[in-house]
Amino acid sequence: MRIATTRQELRSARAELRAEGVGSLGFVPTMGYLHEGHLSLVAAAQQQNDAVAVSIFVNPTQFGPNEDLASYPRDLDRDLALLEAAGVDLVWTPGVADVYPPGFDTYVVPGGVADVLEGAQRPGHFRGVATVLTVLFRVLQPQRAYFGQKDAQQVAVVRQVVRDLVLDVEVVACPIVREPDGLALSSRNSYLTAADRDAATVLSRALRTAEGAWLAGERDATALRTLMLEVLADEPRAEVDYVSVAHPDSLAELSAVDPAVGALLSLAVRVGRPRLIDNVVLLPC
Ligand code: PAJ
Repeated sequence: MRIATTRQELRSARAELRAEGVGSLGFVPTMGYLHEGHLSLVAAAQQQNDAVAVSIFVNPTQFGPNEDLASYPRDLDRDLALLEAAGVDLVWTPGVADVYPPGFDTYVVPGGVADVLEGAQRPGHFRGVATVLTVLFRVLQPQRAYFGQKDAQQVAVVRQVVRDLVLDVEVVACPIVREPDGLALSSRNSYLTAADRDAATVLSRALRTAEGAWLAGERDATALRTLMLEVLADEPRAEVDYVSVAHPDSLAELSAVDPAVGALLSLAVRVGRPRLIDNVVLLPC
């Protein structure tokens, strides 16, 4: 497994892969502290490409001033061991100056799809995500990039940016990996105390309840939101940021779900220290 830090090291490693006959490179961008969710993206990338690269970079520009940049969990040695065991070909662990060299002063500001939900709660978050991914894509030049449906809005934003800026990369979205009790895997789950860990199952329970109602014929979006809020209200440790029933592409809030279009059910809930997000796609039927 090759490990690169600087842009120059990365370019050399990328050139070596090309020289070895690697035609397609799959890329999994991460912020480290890896879990099975990240590794599922690696597995998907391995199935569809000749080689796989993973970046580990806690991107400062996507954190707000009152967010957890300084305390974001990090364990590089463990991450590298997991990626080596998974058979990853190239790991890029840039420092901040490798991504944002002195004088860096250009940002990618995605439009409406980035303004709602997470974007409304975390101003500037998707500007940071769009900017870092544009730089990472340009330097690494992968054929495909893999993202988790766990961050559904991130997928929508990345698709928009790739389309608008004609970035030559195919965006692939992969299913959410969950614990047996339904909790979506997240690096931030490490912030949960034992009691909060039990309470955190309320996110997936709320989503499943609304999904069940949809499958039973409920089409009213307000009724679906109310069902989610009722489940969340039963958990005293849960503090709701938002629940949403939105158009699957534009992410605009719906009043009714069109069975021909479906919807994205999503929510953000603080449980003890961490703010957790989760979602379920209501597929067209
Ligand atoms: P990070 O939170 O480390 O997540 C990296 C990738 O793993 C994202 O595409 C995310 O959706 C995916 N992922 C996280 N939990 C998952 C789960 N339970 N199941 C499936 N996939 C999961 O997302 C970021 O980093 C950053 O914003 C990044 C894209 C790297 C840009 O800085």
